[in-house]
Amino acid sequence: MQTHLVIDGERRSGSNNETVDVFNPANGELVATVDSGSVEDMLAACNAAAQAQKTWAAVAPRQRAELLRKCYDVMMANQRELADIIVAEHGKPKADAMGEIGYAAEFFRWNSEEAVRMHGTVSVNPSGTARMLVHHVPVGVVLMVTPWNFPAAMITRKVAPALAAGNAVVIKPAKETPLTALALADLFENDVGLPNGLINMVTTASAAEPVKAAMDHDAVRMISFTGSTPVGRILLRQAADRVLKVTMELGGNAPFVVFADADLDLAVEGAIAAKMRHSAQTCTAANRFIVEASVMDAFGDKLAAAMSAMRVGNGHEDGVQVGPLIDQNAVDSVDGLVKGAVDGGASVVTGGEPIDGPGYFYPPTVLKNVAVNDSVCTEEIFGPVAPLMAFTTEDEAITLANSTEMGLMGYVFTQDLQRGLRVSEQIQAGMIGLNRGVVSDPAAPFGGMKQSGLGREGASEGIYEFCETQYISTNW
Ligand code: SIN
Repeated sequence: MQTHLVIDGERRSGSNNETVDVFNPANGELVATVDSGSVEDMLAACNAAAQAQKTWAAVAPRQRAELLRKCYDVMMANQRELADIIVAEHGKPKADAMGEIGYAAEFFRWNSEEAVRMHGTVSVNPSGTARMLVHHVPVGVVLMVTPWNFPAAMITRKVAPALAAGNAVVIKPAKETPLTALALADLFENDVGLPNGLINMVTTASAAEPVKAAMDHDAVRMISFTGSTPVGRILLRQAADRVLKVTMELGGNAPFVVFADADLDLAVEGAIAAKMRHSAQTCTAANRFIVEASVMDAFGDKLAAAMSAMRVGNGHEDGVQVGPLIDQNAVDSVDGLVKGAVDGGASVVTGGEPIDGPGYFYPPTVLKNVAVNDSVCTEEIFGPVAPLMAFTTEDEAITLANSTEMGLMGYVFTQDLQRGLRVSEQIQAGMIGLNRGVVSDPAAPFGGMKQSGLGREGASEGIYEFCETQYISTNW
């Protein structure tokens, strides 16, 4: 297993000899000890990226595309091995981990296709005195700070478009899940042959100082972050000092609206996907179930039956559908939200008590009669808890759905397509699943409104996030 920092193509120990222990959340056992980078290591990585970027930006788009396509092939050829690393350090079930590698690799395939299709425009200015040429140039060096919930996909969703556009990158992977990141860096350099210094990987025990140092490095012109809204706010303030370009994929608080005319079996299937995918630790997870009063009991009972039938356990075991939470703090936080809701008058339909260790497990839980302003509805749960609340009119459903500062994702279930589209348009979220519990796709623009973020990842616009637009005024 690769446990060293990757800087300029070299495998290095941290300059201050610090390390980070990585534990399996399913049993608390030590998986590996990884080198931890210092401020000096981070600056060395930025220097290496700055050098590599100059050459890479001049590589023909077709050649860049072919190397990116090879990243896809190599990831898929190593899907099982990479998935095993994810299960060991994150805990998610094997099937989810295999799915994540497929999803993560797809960002390379998609962006290999985009790399050769970047468009600008040529036009005549309104007064007819000049030609206006608009084209896109790489930002330069991009700092990427990535989370633990998708140890591979949240890296590739940024790296693939950044490289496609001609940038070099410095990545600070989550300290909980650095092993997948380091394994990817190895594959990209050794099996794909990406140039040294193009992808630098600096794991750190504590992130604040090394990340700030990188943001102050002359060559770094952009930070791309996926994580919580509070950390995003800090990074946005720091980015202001050097007016860095940013993309921020922050927290969510997705409403899941079920109308009485919905196909309830489909709605429950969607709810399980939207809530429980990747052990309920996704930003897109359904956080509040807003259900028309006349079908509350029918939907609630079906959902509780489906949730309680899910097999919880170590992601390595066959048949396990829900893995552990990432650590004890996560269990305490989820349990605190459930207990708070119960104190506020909610009733537990299933689940509701942490599972004894080893490991950090919380059972699939359904809560009924939850108050709108209860913390379980106002905060991002990041755990397997489905709070249900009732509505009686369409307007009320929309008001409830929008009663949050977050705006990443929303779900609407109804068989009336006209109403489905009308309600979808009024939900203040960057992405909507209309009769669907999963919408993530490398070909789609992923991102949020309001305090859920800035910018989009994936789709055709994803690559332009890693570019500056340049306008040349001329005549001929
Ligand atoms: C996330 O949880 O941030 C990403 C979820 C996804 O890509 O589907």
